[in-house]
Amino acid sequence: MTAEPKLPDTEWASLLQAARAAQTHAYAPYSKFAVGAAVLDDQGRIHAGCNVENAAYPEGVCAEAGALSAMVLAGGAKVRALAVVGDGAGLVTPCGGCRQKLREFAAGDTPVLVGDRTRLRASFTLSQLLPESFGPEHLQP
Ligand code: THU
Repeated sequence: MTAEPKLPDTEWASLLQAARAAQTHAYAPYSKFAVGAAVLDDQGRIHAGCNVENAAYPEGVCAEAGALSAMVLAGGAKVRALAVVGDGAGLVTPCGGCRQKLREFAAGDTPVLVGDRTRLRASFTLSQLLPESFGPEHLQP
């Protein structure tokens, strides 16, 4: 964990702010745990997502997955940084599945910012969260 992400201050502040705005749209009637996420793409654009739960519990979708879908829909090809925001005492780091989903579009040194409604709490690289990972290049001959 590093104190500050390798991103200009304004960029990580905007990313966190977008994740916070998305958190307010979370549909989490079962867990009551609202999460927002935002990704910065290779064109400098921000795409956000919130968690969307389902009465058939396993069908719920994480905020990070929503943000990645929004990026792909908008034609984004790479993730330059991701922010995730949630409440509570513990750091809301991306779940294992979302780390792998992010891996599809992000390099190992991509900053993953973890915050809450008021502050940036921690910053990791994707490699720290998902070491020795498997990615698209492994499928190349
Ligand atoms: N959740 C996310 O959306 N992202 C995370 O990084 C952690 C967990 C959601 C899934 C579920 O809707 C709720 O938070 C409780 O696990």
